[in-house]
Amino acid sequence: MKDRMELERVVLLGRTLKEYSAYFQLGEADLRSGRILDLGAGVSSFAAESAALGCDVTAGDPIYDLSADQIAERSRTDLDHVLAQMPDVLHKYNWTFYSNLGELAHYRTIARDRFLKDYTSHRERYMTASLPSTGFPDQKFSLVLVSYFLILYDDLLNYDFHKRSVLELARIVSREVRIYPLTNFRGLKSEFIERLLRDPHCASLSFAVVQIDFEFLKNANEILIVRHN
Ligand SMILES: C[S@@+](CC[C@H](N)C(=O)[O-])C[C@H]1O[C@@H](n2cnc3c(N)ncnc32)[C@H](O)[C@@H]1O
Repeated sequence: MKDRMELERVVLLGRTLKEYSAYFQLGEADLRSGRILDLGAGVSSFAAESAALGCDVTAGDPIYDLSADQIAERSRTDLDHVLAQMPDVLHKYNWTFYSNLGELAHYRTIARDRFLKDYTSHRERYMTASLPSTGFPDQKFSLVLVSYFLILYDDLLNYDFHKRSVLELARIVSREVRIYPLTNFRGLKSEFIERLLRDPHCASLSFAVVQIDFEFLKNANEILIVRHN
């Protein structure tokens, strides 16, 4: 048994609209409230699925300068790598939303396949963009979502990167940013949250840590909402 998943880099795994909706608490009003950006979207099918529902959504990720085949290959390798480690860390996760490892793998595969189809047919939705400097205009988006990228990798990405990323997200959003999860892979609430809340460079922002009823990685049951004061 181990106390965390060991990853040497940010992995290319994707989640579905159903999963995003569960932890970001997305209702109709959120999905219809204007332009949405999914940043660090990778092989998530959130953009594909929400666009199919008529939402105005853009996905941003550094990998979008790669071909669909290159992304597919990297994503398959990463999924195999993560699934191979899961038996050693099963106790760190609650098996309620996903009842078992097979169901988890199924969700990841569905998300990736839906993404790859949409990436091929609607490439205009997918913009190459990297934190901490995305290149998007000020307040371009009403809602920005960051799922399984910030905070989680607090051992690979330092506090300064997080601070600059949050300030950048605030620059490109008009209404709010939602970030999930707020723990690292050990399931410990990242110290970066408290530091952001107290950081004088972030004084023009308001932060709300909101409890949610989704908790796959144990303790990962909160989202961070960032707004302008
Ligand atoms: C674990 S995946 C999460 C994908 C998606 N958000 C989801 O939850 O299904 C992390 C993503 O962060 C992306 N990423 C890595 N470095 C980044 C950066 N500097 N800025 C934005 N995204 C980055 C990776 O390419 C990858 O697609």
